[in-house]
Amino acid sequence: MKSNVLGDLSIEDFLANYWQKKPLVIRNAFPDFEMPFTAEELAGLTLETDAPARMIIEHGLPPENKPWQVKLAPFEDSDFTTLPDTHCTFLVNDLERYIPELGNLIEPFRFIPDWRIDDLMVSYAEDQGTVGPHTDDYDVFLIQGEGKRRWKIITREDYPKELIPDLPIALLKEFEADEEWLLEPGDMLYLPPNMPHYGIAEGACFTFSVGFQAPRTVDLIQNWLETFTKNNQFTKRFTDAKREPQENPGEISATDLNKLSSLMLDSIEQQKAELNLFLGKHLTESKGEIPPENHEIIAGYHEQYDYERESWLRFAFIKNQANNSLDFFADGHHVNLPKEYLKDIQELCENYYYSSESLKELMKNNQFNHIFEKLIQQGGLYPANS
Ligand code: SIN
Ligand code: CO
Repeated sequence: MKSNVLGDLSIEDFLANYWQKKPLVIRNAFPDFEMPFTAEELAGLTLETDAPARMIIEHGLPPENKPWQVKLAPFEDSDFTTLPDTHCTFLVNDLERYIPELGNLIEPFRFIPDWRIDDLMVSYAEDQGTVGPHTDDYDVFLIQGEGKRRWKIITREDYPKELIPDLPIALLKEFEADEEWLLEPGDMLYLPPNMPHYGIAEGACFTFSVGFQAPRTVDLIQNWLETFTKNNQFTKRFTDAKREPQENPGEISATDLNKLSSLMLDSIEQQKAELNLFLGKHLTESKGEIPPENHEIIAGYHEQYDYERESWLRFAFIKNQANNSLDFFADGHHVNLPKEYLKDIQELCENYYYSSESLKELMKNNQFNHIFEKLIQQGGLYPANS
Protein backbone atom coordinates (compact mmCIF):
# COMPACT_ATOMS: atom_id res chain seq x y z
CA MET A 1 0.00 0.00 0.00
CA LYS A 2 1.18 3.53 -0.79
CA SER A 3 0.92 6.65 1.30
CA ASN A 4 1.36 10.07 -0.27
CA VAL A 5 3.86 11.26 2.35
CA LEU A 6 6.33 8.37 2.51
CA GLY A 7 8.02 8.97 -0.85
CA ASP A 8 8.92 5.68 -2.52
CA LEU A 9 8.48 3.72 0.68
CA SER A 10 5.34 1.58 0.99
CA ILE A 11 3.27 1.69 4.18
CA GLU A 12 4.22 -1.96 4.81
CA ASP A 13 7.92 -1.13 4.51
CA PHE A 14 7.60 1.91 6.78
CA LEU A 15 5.72 -0.05 9.46
CA ALA A 16 8.09 -3.02 9.32
CA ASN A 17 11.37 -1.09 9.28
CA TYR A 18 10.89 2.43 10.69
CA TRP A 19 7.74 2.84 12.83
CA GLN A 20 8.85 2.78 16.51
CA LYS A 21 12.34 1.74 15.36
CA LYS A 22 14.34 4.12 13.18
CA PRO A 23 14.33 7.80 12.16
CA LEU A 24 13.53 8.66 8.57
CA VAL A 25 13.79 11.80 6.47
CA ILE A 26 11.47 12.20 3.51
CA ARG A 27 12.39 15.13 1.30
CA ASN A 28 9.43 16.93 -0.23
CA ALA A 29 6.86 14.78 1.57
CA PHE A 30 4.47 17.73 1.23
CA PRO A 31 5.33 19.24 -2.18
CA ASP A 32 4.59 22.95 -2.68
CA PHE A 33 3.89 23.37 1.02
CA GLU A 34 1.94 26.53 1.67
CA MET A 35 1.67 28.06 5.11
CA PRO A 36 -1.98 28.25 6.14
CA PHE A 37 -1.39 31.22 8.50
CA THR A 38 1.15 33.87 9.46
CA ALA A 39 2.95 34.16 12.79
CA GLU A 40 0.67 37.10 13.67
CA GLU A 41 -2.45 35.04 12.92
CA LEU A 42 -1.11 32.20 15.09
CA ALA A 43 -0.49 34.65 17.92
CA GLY A 44 -4.04 35.97 17.40
CA LEU A 45 -5.45 32.45 17.69
CA THR A 46 -3.88 31.97 21.11
CA LEU A 47 -5.13 35.37 22.27
CA GLU A 48 -8.69 34.56 21.20
CA THR A 49 -9.05 30.86 22.10
CA ASP A 50 -8.08 28.35 24.81
CA ALA A 51 -5.61 26.59 22.49
CA PRO A 52 -2.77 25.21 24.65
CA ALA A 53 0.30 27.31 23.88
CA ARG A 54 3.73 28.10 25.29
CA MET A 55 6.79 30.21 24.55
CA ILE A 56 10.31 28.93 25.11
CA ILE A 57 13.02 31.55 25.32
CA GLU A 58 16.59 30.29 25.42
CA HIS A 59 18.16 33.44 26.84
CA GLY A 60 15.49 34.60 29.23
CA LEU A 61 14.07 38.08 29.51
CA PRO A 62 14.44 40.50 32.42
CA PRO A 63 13.70 40.56 35.29
CA GLU A 64 14.47 36.81 35.65
CA ASN A 65 17.10 36.67 32.88
CA LYS A 66 17.11 32.90 33.26
CA PRO A 67 18.16 30.50 30.54
CA TRP A 68 15.28 28.48 29.08
CA GLN A 69 12.40 30.59 30.27
CA VAL A 70 8.94 29.10 29.60
CA LYS A 71 5.73 31.13 29.42
CA LEU A 72 2.38 29.38 29.26
CA ALA A 73 -0.89 30.66 27.74
CA PRO A 74 -3.04 32.67 28.33
CA PHE A 75 -0.99 35.42 26.72
CA GLU A 76 -1.41 39.15 26.36
CA ASP A 77 -0.38 41.31 23.41
CA SER A 78 2.68 42.44 25.36
CA ASP A 79 3.95 38.83 25.62
CA PHE A 80 4.42 38.92 21.85
CA THR A 81 5.73 42.45 21.49
CA THR A 82 8.48 41.87 24.07
CA LEU A 83 9.77 38.62 22.54
CA PRO A 84 13.45 38.69 21.55
CA ASP A 85 14.37 38.66 17.82
CA THR A 86 16.28 35.38 18.06
CA HIS A 87 16.43 32.19 20.17
CA CYS A 88 12.73 31.99 20.94
CA THR A 89 9.96 29.61 19.96
CA PHE A 90 6.21 29.82 20.23
CA LEU A 91 4.33 26.49 20.25
CA VAL A 92 0.63 25.69 19.93
CA ASN A 93 -0.88 22.24 20.52
CA ASP A 94 -4.21 20.70 19.43
CA LEU A 95 -4.14 22.94 16.39
CA GLU A 96 -6.49 20.72 14.35
CA ARG A 97 -9.22 21.39 16.92
CA TYR A 98 -9.02 25.13 16.37
CA ILE A 99 -8.26 25.22 12.62
CA PRO A 100 -10.21 22.21 11.29
CA GLU A 101 -8.78 22.59 7.73
CA LEU A 102 -5.44 21.53 9.17
CA GLY A 103 -6.87 18.03 9.48
CA ASN A 104 -5.33 17.74 5.98
CA LEU A 105 -1.88 17.55 7.61
CA ILE A 106 -3.01 14.60 9.75
CA GLU A 107 -4.99 12.80 7.02
CA PRO A 108 -1.93 11.27 5.25
CA PHE A 109 -0.90 9.57 8.51
CA ARG A 110 -4.18 7.72 8.97
CA PHE A 111 -2.49 4.47 7.94
CA ILE A 112 -1.91 4.52 11.71
CA PRO A 113 -5.36 4.27 13.35
CA ASP A 114 -7.08 7.42 14.59
CA TRP A 115 -6.99 6.35 18.24
CA ARG A 116 -3.17 6.42 18.13
CA ILE A 117 -3.01 9.98 16.81
CA ASP A 118 -2.73 12.63 19.49
CA ASP A 119 -2.60 16.07 17.94
CA LEU A 120 -1.11 18.52 15.50
CA MET A 121 1.31 20.98 17.03
CA VAL A 122 2.95 23.93 15.36
CA SER A 123 6.02 25.84 16.42
CA TYR A 124 7.04 29.24 15.16
CA ALA A 125 10.67 30.05 15.85
CA GLU A 126 12.70 33.18 15.32
CA ASP A 127 16.24 32.65 13.98
CA GLN A 128 18.13 30.14 16.19
CA GLY A 129 14.90 29.37 18.06
CA THR A 130 14.82 25.90 19.61
CA VAL A 131 13.12 24.03 22.43
CA GLY A 132 16.52 22.52 23.23
CA PRO A 133 17.93 18.99 23.07
CA HIS A 134 15.40 16.52 24.45
CA THR A 135 13.53 13.26 24.01
CA ASP A 136 9.78 12.74 23.64
CA ASP A 137 8.15 9.50 24.70
CA TYR A 138 5.95 9.33 21.62
CA ASP A 139 6.38 8.93 17.85
CA VAL A 140 6.35 12.14 15.88
CA PHE A 141 6.35 13.29 12.26
CA LEU A 142 7.99 16.71 12.04
CA ILE A 143 6.86 18.54 8.91
CA GLN A 144 8.84 21.60 7.92
CA GLY A 145 6.59 24.53 7.05
CA GLU A 146 7.91 27.90 5.92
CA GLY A 147 11.63 28.49 6.56
CA LYS A 148 14.41 26.07 7.48
CA ARG A 149 15.30 24.08 10.55
CA ARG A 150 18.40 22.03 11.26
CA TRP A 151 17.62 18.77 13.04
CA LYS A 152 20.30 16.89 14.94
CA ILE A 153 19.62 13.49 16.44
CA ILE A 154 21.38 10.83 18.49
CA THR A 155 20.76 7.31 17.24
CA ARG A 156 23.08 5.37 19.59
CA GLU A 157 21.44 4.00 22.71
CA ASP A 158 24.30 4.64 25.15
CA TYR A 159 24.15 8.46 25.01
CA PRO A 160 24.55 10.47 28.26
CA LYS A 161 21.04 10.76 29.73
CA GLU A 162 21.76 13.40 32.34
CA LEU A 163 19.42 16.42 32.27
CA ILE A 164 20.31 20.06 32.94
CA PRO A 165 19.18 20.59 36.55
CA ASP A 166 16.59 23.14 37.71
CA LEU A 167 15.00 23.95 34.38
CA PRO A 168 11.28 24.27 33.68
CA ILE A 169 11.76 21.84 30.73
CA ALA A 170 13.65 18.54 30.51
CA LEU A 171 16.78 19.19 28.43
CA LEU A 172 19.79 16.94 27.91
CA LYS A 173 23.01 18.23 29.43
CA GLU A 174 25.19 16.80 26.65
CA PHE A 175 24.21 16.39 23.05
CA GLU A 176 26.66 14.96 20.58
CA ALA A 177 24.66 14.34 17.41
CA ASP A 178 25.43 11.45 15.12
CA GLU A 179 23.14 12.56 12.29
CA GLU A 180 21.81 15.89 11.10
CA TRP A 181 19.71 17.33 8.30
CA LEU A 182 18.60 20.78 7.21
CA LEU A 183 14.86 20.51 6.57
CA GLU A 184 13.28 22.81 4.00
CA PRO A 185 9.59 23.53 3.39
CA GLY A 186 7.64 20.30 2.78
CA ASP A 187 10.43 18.02 4.09
CA MET A 188 9.59 15.65 6.91
CA LEU A 189 11.45 13.85 9.70
CA TYR A 190 9.96 10.84 11.47
CA LEU A 191 11.32 10.12 14.95
CA PRO A 192 10.52 7.02 17.01
CA PRO A 193 9.84 7.49 20.76
CA ASN A 194 12.73 8.44 23.05
CA MET A 195 15.19 9.40 20.33
CA PRO A 196 17.15 12.50 21.38
CA HIS A 197 16.63 15.40 18.98
CA TYR A 198 17.55 19.05 18.72
CA GLY A 199 15.95 21.30 16.12
CA ILE A 200 17.37 24.78 15.56
CA ALA A 201 15.72 27.34 13.28
CA GLU A 202 17.93 28.85 10.57
CA GLY A 203 16.07 32.09 10.05
CA ALA A 204 12.45 32.32 11.18
CA CYS A 205 10.55 29.08 10.56
CA PHE A 206 7.42 27.06 11.20
CA THR A 207 7.47 23.34 12.06
CA PHE A 208 4.37 21.16 12.35
CA SER A 209 4.41 17.99 14.48
CA VAL A 210 1.93 15.14 14.17
CA GLY A 211 2.26 13.45 17.56
CA PHE A 212 1.01 10.03 18.59
CA GLN A 213 -0.29 8.77 21.89
CA ALA A 214 0.66 5.54 23.60
CA PRO A 215 -1.42 4.99 26.73
CA ARG A 216 0.52 4.15 29.90
CA THR A 217 -0.60 0.99 31.70
CA VAL A 218 -1.22 2.87 34.94
CA ASP A 219 -3.54 5.33 33.20
CA LEU A 220 -5.49 2.58 31.48
CA ILE A 221 -5.89 0.63 34.71
CA GLN A 222 -6.82 3.69 36.76
CA ASN A 223 -9.41 4.80 34.23
CA TRP A 224 -10.75 1.27 34.01
CA LEU A 225 -11.10 1.03 37.80
CA GLU A 226 -13.05 4.27 37.85
CA THR A 227 -15.79 2.63 35.79
CA PHE A 228 -16.38 -0.13 38.36
CA THR A 229 -18.43 1.71 40.91
CA LYS A 230 -20.80 2.67 38.13
CA ASN A 231 -21.06 -0.81 36.68
CA ASN A 232 -21.15 -2.93 39.80
CA GLN A 233 -18.41 -5.28 38.61
CA PHE A 234 -16.11 -7.35 40.80
CA THR A 235 -18.55 -7.81 43.65
CA LYS A 236 -17.70 -11.51 44.13
CA ARG A 237 -16.23 -12.13 47.60
CA PHE A 238 -13.52 -14.41 48.90
CA THR A 239 -14.86 -17.75 50.25
CA ASP A 240 -13.08 -20.49 52.22
CA ALA A 241 -15.55 -23.27 52.96
CA LYS A 242 -12.73 -25.84 52.81
CA ARG A 243 -10.47 -24.10 55.34
CA GLU A 244 -7.94 -26.37 57.12
CA PRO A 245 -6.45 -25.65 60.58
CA GLN A 246 -3.19 -23.66 60.43
CA GLU A 247 -0.19 -23.46 62.81
CA ASN A 248 0.13 -19.72 63.28
CA PRO A 249 -2.67 -17.12 63.09
CA GLY A 250 -0.28 -14.57 61.55
CA GLU A 251 0.43 -16.56 58.41
CA ILE A 252 -1.34 -15.79 55.15
CA SER A 253 -1.02 -19.28 53.75
CA ALA A 254 0.03 -20.17 50.22
CA THR A 255 -3.48 -21.61 49.67
CA ASP A 256 -5.11 -18.33 50.73
CA LEU A 257 -2.68 -16.27 48.63
CA ASN A 258 -3.43 -18.42 45.59
CA LYS A 259 -7.15 -18.14 46.12
CA LEU A 260 -6.95 -14.36 46.61
CA SER A 261 -4.84 -13.74 43.54
CA SER A 262 -7.02 -16.10 41.46
CA LEU A 263 -10.08 -14.20 42.65
CA MET A 264 -8.54 -11.02 41.22
CA LEU A 265 -6.99 -12.41 38.05
CA ASP A 266 -9.89 -14.71 37.10
CA SER A 267 -12.34 -11.85 37.56
CA ILE A 268 -10.25 -9.69 35.22
CA GLU A 269 -10.13 -12.54 32.70
CA GLN A 270 -13.92 -12.83 32.87
CA GLN A 271 -14.16 -9.11 32.10
CA LYS A 272 -12.36 -9.45 28.77
CA ALA A 273 -15.43 -8.50 26.71
CA GLU A 274 -16.17 -5.59 29.07
CA LEU A 275 -12.55 -4.54 28.84
CA ASN A 276 -12.86 -4.17 25.05
CA LEU A 277 -15.86 -1.88 25.55
CA PHE A 278 -13.99 0.14 28.16
CA LEU A 279 -11.07 0.57 25.72
CA GLY A 280 -13.34 1.67 22.88
CA LYS A 281 -15.00 4.26 25.13
CA HIS A 282 -11.79 5.41 26.78
CA LEU A 283 -9.83 5.80 23.54
CA THR A 284 -12.53 7.90 21.87
CA GLU A 285 -13.19 10.12 24.88
CA SER A 286 -11.92 13.70 24.48
CA LYS A 287 -9.27 14.32 27.08
CA GLY A 288 -11.44 16.52 29.25
CA GLU A 289 -10.78 19.70 27.27
CA ILE A 290 -13.65 21.98 26.44
CA PRO A 291 -14.23 21.66 22.69
CA PRO A 292 -13.65 24.86 20.74
CA GLU A 293 -16.83 26.50 19.43
CA ASN A 294 -16.07 26.33 15.73
CA HIS A 295 -19.74 26.20 14.74
CA GLU A 296 -23.08 27.31 16.01
CA ILE A 297 -24.97 24.42 17.59
CA ILE A 298 -28.14 23.65 15.64
CA ALA A 299 -29.93 21.15 17.86
CA GLY A 300 -31.92 18.25 16.46
CA TYR A 301 -31.20 15.97 13.52
CA HIS A 302 -32.67 17.03 10.20
CA GLU A 303 -32.77 14.18 7.71
CA GLN A 304 -32.49 16.47 4.71
CA TYR A 305 -29.13 17.91 5.92
CA ASP A 306 -25.64 16.67 5.23
CA TYR A 307 -23.53 16.62 8.41
CA GLU A 308 -19.88 17.25 9.23
CA ARG A 309 -17.78 15.98 12.12
CA GLU A 310 -15.42 18.21 14.10
CA SER A 311 -11.86 16.89 14.08
CA TRP A 312 -11.84 16.60 17.90
CA LEU A 313 -14.72 14.13 17.81
CA ARG A 314 -13.21 10.65 17.80
CA PHE A 315 -15.06 7.73 16.25
CA ALA A 316 -13.97 4.09 16.40
CA PHE A 317 -15.43 0.63 15.99
CA ILE A 318 -14.67 -2.90 17.10
CA LYS A 319 -15.70 -6.05 15.27
CA ASN A 320 -17.24 -7.91 18.17
CA GLN A 321 -16.19 -11.55 17.62
CA ALA A 322 -17.95 -12.82 20.74
CA ASN A 323 -21.45 -12.04 19.51
CA ASN A 324 -20.78 -11.46 15.84
CA SER A 325 -21.82 -7.82 15.95
CA LEU A 326 -20.30 -4.36 15.85
CA ASP A 327 -19.45 -1.94 18.63
CA PHE A 328 -19.38 1.71 17.65
CA PHE A 329 -17.79 4.36 19.90
CA ALA A 330 -18.00 8.12 19.73
CA ASP A 331 -16.51 10.41 22.37
CA GLY A 332 -16.88 7.77 25.09
CA HIS A 333 -20.39 6.70 24.03
CA HIS A 334 -21.04 3.17 22.87
CA VAL A 335 -23.65 1.44 20.76
CA ASN A 336 -23.81 -2.23 19.77
CA LEU A 337 -25.03 -2.71 16.20
CA PRO A 338 -25.83 -5.66 13.94
CA LYS A 339 -22.85 -6.52 11.73
CA GLU A 340 -24.85 -5.57 8.62
CA TYR A 341 -23.95 -1.96 9.47
CA LEU A 342 -20.22 -2.60 9.00
CA LYS A 343 -19.90 -0.67 5.72
CA ASP A 344 -21.89 2.29 7.05
CA ILE A 345 -19.82 2.42 10.23
CA GLN A 346 -16.55 2.09 8.33
CA GLU A 347 -17.52 5.06 6.16
CA LEU A 348 -18.65 7.02 9.19
CA CYS A 349 -15.31 6.49 10.94
CA GLU A 350 -13.19 7.16 7.87
CA ASN A 351 -14.88 10.38 6.79
CA TYR A 352 -15.69 13.75 8.29
CA TYR A 353 -18.48 14.66 5.85
CA TYR A 354 -21.73 12.67 5.67
CA SER A 355 -24.35 13.12 2.98
CA SER A 356 -27.97 12.94 4.16
CA GLU A 357 -28.31 9.78 2.04
CA SER A 358 -25.36 8.04 3.70
CA LEU A 359 -26.87 8.56 7.18
CA LYS A 360 -30.33 7.21 6.38
CA GLU A 361 -29.84 3.53 7.23
CA LEU A 362 -27.88 4.15 10.43
CA MET A 363 -30.38 6.71 11.69
CA LYS A 364 -33.10 4.03 11.57
CA ASN A 365 -31.32 2.36 14.49
CA ASN A 366 -32.71 3.93 17.67
CA GLN A 367 -29.56 3.64 19.75
CA PHE A 368 -27.38 5.11 17.00
CA ASN A 369 -29.92 7.84 16.41
CA HIS A 370 -29.81 8.72 20.11
CA ILE A 371 -26.01 9.04 20.13
CA PHE A 372 -25.99 11.02 16.88
CA GLU A 373 -28.45 13.53 18.39
CA LYS A 374 -26.33 13.78 21.53
CA LEU A 375 -23.21 14.51 19.48
CA ILE A 376 -25.07 17.24 17.58
CA GLN A 377 -26.02 18.79 20.91
CA GLN A 378 -22.40 18.63 22.08
CA GLY A 379 -21.30 20.41 18.89
CA GLY A 380 -19.21 17.50 17.56
CA LEU A 381 -21.54 17.10 14.56
CA TYR A 382 -23.09 20.00 12.69
CA PRO A 383 -25.10 20.55 9.52
CA ALA A 384 -22.76 21.03 6.57
CA ASN A 385 -22.30 24.62 5.39
CA SER A 386 -23.76 25.95 8.64
C1 SIN B 1 9.71 22.30 17.62
O1 SIN B 1 8.90 22.22 16.70
O2 SIN B 1 10.41 23.29 17.79
C2 SIN B 1 9.90 21.19 18.60
C3 SIN B 1 9.32 19.92 18.18
C4 SIN B 1 9.97 18.78 18.93
O3 SIN B 1 11.14 18.81 19.20
O4 SIN B 1 9.30 17.80 19.25
CO1 CO C 1 10.55 16.86 20.53
